[in-house]
Amino acid sequence: RQLHVKDLYTEDLADQTEVELTGWVKTVRASKNVGFIELNDGSSIHNVQIVMTKDLPNFEELGKLPISTTIQVTGELALTPKAQQPFEIHATAIKEIGQSNNDYPLQKKKHTYEYLRTMAHLRPRTTTFYAVFKIRSLAAFAVHQYLQGHDFTYVNTPLITSSDAEGAGEMFQVTTLDLNNLPKDDQGNVDETQDFFKKKTNLTVSGQLEVEAFALAFGNVYTFGPTFRAEDSHTTRHASEFWMIEPEMAFADLNDMMNEAQGLLKGVITYIFKHGMDELQFLNDNVDEHLIERLKTTEQEDFGRITYTEAIELLEKAPVEFKVPVYWGLDLQAEHERYITEQVFNKPVFITDYPKEIKAFYMRDNDDGKTVAAADLLVPEIGELIGGSQREERLAQLTDKIKEFGLSLDDYQWYLDLRKYGETEESGFGIGFERLVMYLTGMENIRDVIPYPRTPGNAEF
Ligand code: 4AD
Ligand code: MG
Repeated sequence: RQLHVKDLYTEDLADQTEVELTGWVKTVRASKNVGFIELNDGSSIHNVQIVMTKDLPNFEELGKLPISTTIQVTGELALTPKAQQPFEIHATAIKEIGQSNNDYPLQKKKHTYEYLRTMAHLRPRTTTFYAVFKIRSLAAFAVHQYLQGHDFTYVNTPLITSSDAEGAGEMFQVTTLDLNNLPKDDQGNVDETQDFFKKKTNLTVSGQLEVEAFALAFGNVYTFGPTFRAEDSHTTRHASEFWMIEPEMAFADLNDMMNEAQGLLKGVITYIFKHGMDELQFLNDNVDEHLIERLKTTEQEDFGRITYTEAIELLEKAPVEFKVPVYWGLDLQAEHERYITEQVFNKPVFITDYPKEIKAFYMRDNDDGKTVAAADLLVPEIGELIGGSQREERLAQLTDKIKEFGLSLDDYQWYLDLRKYGETEESGFGIGFERLVMYLTGMENIRDVIPYPRTPGNAEF
């Protein structure tokens, strides 16, 4: 019977069942009379051990197969309850059906992540990256399942847009103009009306503004798609192309937003515990020994909640060994975030009510005139995982805010319309999907949780 490796682990197969498997050689060792092949076919993180004896006509050649050769194995299942592996396959025939070569770059020894980044096309074949990308896939499904289960409608927002959702100007321009021969207008400026869309366009930094329009029609909505930022950040947590989940809710204030974000994160973890335990266990054993414990805490405990002002006080009172200069008004740096999540709380914590100058124009002004109704979620090891806020729904205030931030009212006319036709309490947040996958896998570099990372100076493949 043609089977997948996964079936061997999940089905209750009897001893001596006839099986046929197709897969890749992960390791091979052979002595004079007997040999062992670890076979994997991608259906499971686990390999299955193939035992071959010199009775096989091609026994000699099999002992020398290069790693990653594609083979077809026919044999008999042998249950081995006392051995390390619960079963093995006693081969009756092994056929090479696709060659590999002896210079296969991923030999059995452990490679550094830096080295593996130079071969984004081969690293999925390692067990670590298998686990990471399996969890990435499970997490994406869990996000959709959780949100759809809570009556959120999935909305696809455009990737090419003419608006700057964050008002920060960190955008990749999209153009078909010939850079060596740009059309100029009378003033000598680039004539954008001659471009493909007859105006200046860029890759989206966030789908928030566009999805807000749908929140004000559907109530609860979310986007989940790629976003792009041309920020020159060389860190382990910034990518130029990353995926973002952006839930947005009408009739919701900042507390509702935090409750929803906490529920979603816990829901995703519960799903991974149920469907990705083998991968989590592998990562816990090989990548981060505190992974499962940290995820359990996150799943079970309420997240902390403090205001930005309280966070600054905590930082000012920090013992010398953790002290990093800080003052009210400063945007929190990675060191500050780590101190609060790892030393003070040792679990995820929301920081709310930031100074308005360091946050985006669309956040709702608090009554103190100094802060906005924002909430960032900081988590141990990573720092900022979620950025969110209550939105400024008051047309007059929003109009002033756009002007204060030096943005053009023309560009945001459609966004102002959303308030002009029905001011509504509204909140939303964005989860960086790669940072979520880092949290779920214990991987420390964002380049190792996205299949083909794009960072400043690097866009291989
Ligand atoms: O805090 P940010 O910039 O918020 C927004 O974009 C809002 N429009 C979200 C919303 O309210 N709908 O980004 C949200 C999250 C961050 O907390 C972080 O996890 C992630 O996106 N993020 C990045 N991840 C990887 N690389 C980058 N360069 C990132 N920039 C932000
Ligand atoms: Mg942010």
